[in-house]
Amino acid sequence: MIKDILGYKIFNSRGEPTVLIKTITDKGVFYGSAPSGASVGRYEAKTLNIDKSLEILKNVKENFIGLREEDYSILEDMIVQFAGDRFQNIGSHLGFALSSSFLKAATLNKPYRYFDEISFPYPVGNVMGGGVHGGGTDIQEFHLIPINAKSFPEAIGICIEGIRRIKDILSKRGKVFGKNDENALVSDLNDEEVFEIVSSVADDLGARIGIDMAATELWDPKKGKYVYKKLGKETTPGEQLDAVKELINLWKVYFVEDPFHEDDFQNFARLRKWRPKILVCGDDIFATNMERVKMGIKYGSCNSMIIKPNQIGTIGLAMEVAEFANRNGMKTVVSHRSGETNDWIVSDLALGLSPFIKTGVWGGERLAKHNRLIEIWNSLPKPRMAKI
Ligand code: PGA
Ligand code: ZN
Repeated sequence: MIKDILGYKIFNSRGEPTVLIKTITDKGVFYGSAPSGASVGRYEAKTLNIDKSLEILKNVKENFIGLREEDYSILEDMIVQFAGDRFQNIGSHLGFALSSSFLKAATLNKPYRYFDEISFPYPVGNVMGGGVHGGGTDIQEFHLIPINAKSFPEAIGICIEGIRRIKDILSKRGKVFGKNDENALVSDLNDEEVFEIVSSVADDLGARIGIDMAATELWDPKKGKYVYKKLGKETTPGEQLDAVKELINLWKVYFVEDPFHEDDFQNFARLRKWRPKILVCGDDIFATNMERVKMGIKYGSCNSMIIKPNQIGTIGLAMEVAEFANRNGMKTVVSHRSGETNDWIVSDLALGLSPFIKTGVWGGERLAKHNRLIEIWNSLPKPRMAKI
């Protein structure tokens, strides 16, 4: 039974305020805390000032006290009712943190047990980048994807070895480098030079390359063009399609996220038809929103999509969207945000829902997710990797 729900203002990895929830039941105390994005799409759930969210919590929490935490779906429905249209009444930080702590309470800190079957996701590891995550390239993220790994510990080990090798290469070239919001490496190298390095490391490690172009951030609606500030280049949507095809061919890219802005369903579809085996992944275009996913399916826009629970507001709503996408043949990628906490709920979601997980490579708040998966891998009699 839920005895109390406490809320606090804490900070995320970018130093922004966020919400920590402690749900107290007669079986223990269960924590949930919410992440925040930097490349936030137009169709995401609304966020509220954290102090305001905590005030709202004081008003709504009485409704949950005395209820059974095992009835997770009832608690979820109540959050969604209080939230109103696009979470404008409570904000997505509170929605995420409440639902994360409730699901942990319902499963005694084993949310993956909520699913009938689980398999381990392949990491989509952000090793270098830039864009709005800070410094470096116009492309927001360059990934290593270890699709030949036989276990999750091996898979994340390959990503970590990869980022260490990239760091060594940058050091040997005398490059000044650092880390951005997701702890990916940044330097003053341009996109082409970064592709060269990441691709040579990927080949050596038997991994594939992914990119998140986060093209809504590059899109200038007034000009009707994508603006690459670092490369000093501008492209029309047609030129963008050609440029993305060229990158895929040149660097044997396996996964491409948000190559077009969030309303360009048609060009996503053109890219997908051109190379059906490449994962054409939608993030801002869907914003983990069922109606947007249905539109994407109608247009044939993507064969893959990002699942970020705070884009839609709660863990349960994100699960529904992921299950719907899976049933419609999309490969889902459960994802962190660039501003993270140590909450590891996305790892458990990936176990039940997705063949891929995107939670960075290193840094405490990213390792909280990976180490959770390593621990579960080692605690199960017959763990197995997902089918991709
Ligand atoms: P965000 O970036 O969390 O800053 O939105 C991650 C992404 O675009 O995938
Ligand atoms: Zn993205």
